[in-house]
Amino acid sequence: MRQIGNDIKKTINKVTVSYNDEGPDGVPAIIFIHGFPFNKSMWNSQMETLKKDYRVIAYDVRGHGNSESGNVDFSIELFGQDLILLMDTLKIEKAMLCGLSMGGYIALNAITNYPERFTALVLSDTNCAADTPVSKDKRMKAIESIRKNGVEKYADESLNKLFAPESFTTNSKEVDKAREMITATSKQSLYNTLYALAKRKETCSKLPEINVPVLILVGNEDVITPPKAAHSMHEIIKGSFLHVIHHAGHLSNMENPLEFNDQLKTFVTIVKQKSKKFPEKTQLGSNGQNQKIITSSEEVEKDLNAKILKITMTINDQYPELSKYLEEMPNTIPDEKNSEITLKNLSTYYESLNSILNKYKSDHPKN
Ligand code: MLT
Repeated sequence: MRQIGNDIKKTINKVTVSYNDEGPDGVPAIIFIHGFPFNKSMWNSQMETLKKDYRVIAYDVRGHGNSESGNVDFSIELFGQDLILLMDTLKIEKAMLCGLSMGGYIALNAITNYPERFTALVLSDTNCAADTPVSKDKRMKAIESIRKNGVEKYADESLNKLFAPESFTTNSKEVDKAREMITATSKQSLYNTLYALAKRKETCSKLPEINVPVLILVGNEDVITPPKAAHSMHEIIKGSFLHVIHHAGHLSNMENPLEFNDQLKTFVTIVKQKSKKFPEKTQLGSNGQNQKIITSSEEVEKDLNAKILKITMTINDQYPELSKYLEEMPNTIPDEKNSEITLKNLSTYYESLNSILNKYKSDHPKN
């Protein structure tokens, strides 16, 4: 039986993990993974925005917030396993994932190791590269500094890099909230996680394998995982979307929640509609498990789906005045038994959207 609410506790992988679980039953699930050294409350605004239509889950990574640390060394692999075991415990077979910074490292680890468990990915203010020797050295210096000068000083130094300069005046409540989250994290967890971050493996070489819709978000003033890192992931992940959040540094979801939530909502809505309209075809395999049917037209279908997603994002992002056409567009009913009809419907749908957009662009040229 599902428990709904906040700060629910479950024991997985020998630690008690705290999570929030809200939203209706029977709708797509979105799991939020926080950055370092924060906790699930950094996602409050996103949970609030999406909980009407989605099952939204935010959890405390072990050693953070109200989750226990356990007795083993931390690693991004271990955090990835925890996530999968949490999904198993909550009986979530598949979910959309949204991770910020360290949350993005965990999401990338999980999706590359367990691709069948995820339907979409939002990578926010994160990076696929491993630490350079210089960044590893900085982490070791941070450990020394916490030992010598305490967590308060570490928090103050970190905040200057985490937030865009303007956020200290326009968004001081969020800065205070971030300070609280940092100082509430135990010293031992800070050390363990800093070691885990320093020794994490790169995932850039695995990005071409990602086969689900991906949205990449980054604060325009993020100095920790800068827009350059987001652009390079965008170049590698086929059909991914990139949006730069204005007036934001590394904690873009807290610094500019309006713009962040707008992007997030548009993306997950399209993913949800797409999966409803164009269900994945499965058949019972010889092992008795459902297997994805591989048809010769699958590549074409995937390509059309990616194009539809892209054009819908473009309309929502740059030409919102056209979004009524997305609503008014006749519903194409894919025929699961006949791939040719599915392809024809998809193609007609895409062509109509494309011609509306192209006509609008030529009638309303932007300078
Ligand atoms: C985070 O926000 O999770 C950290 O900045 C990640 C990192 O230090 O690499």
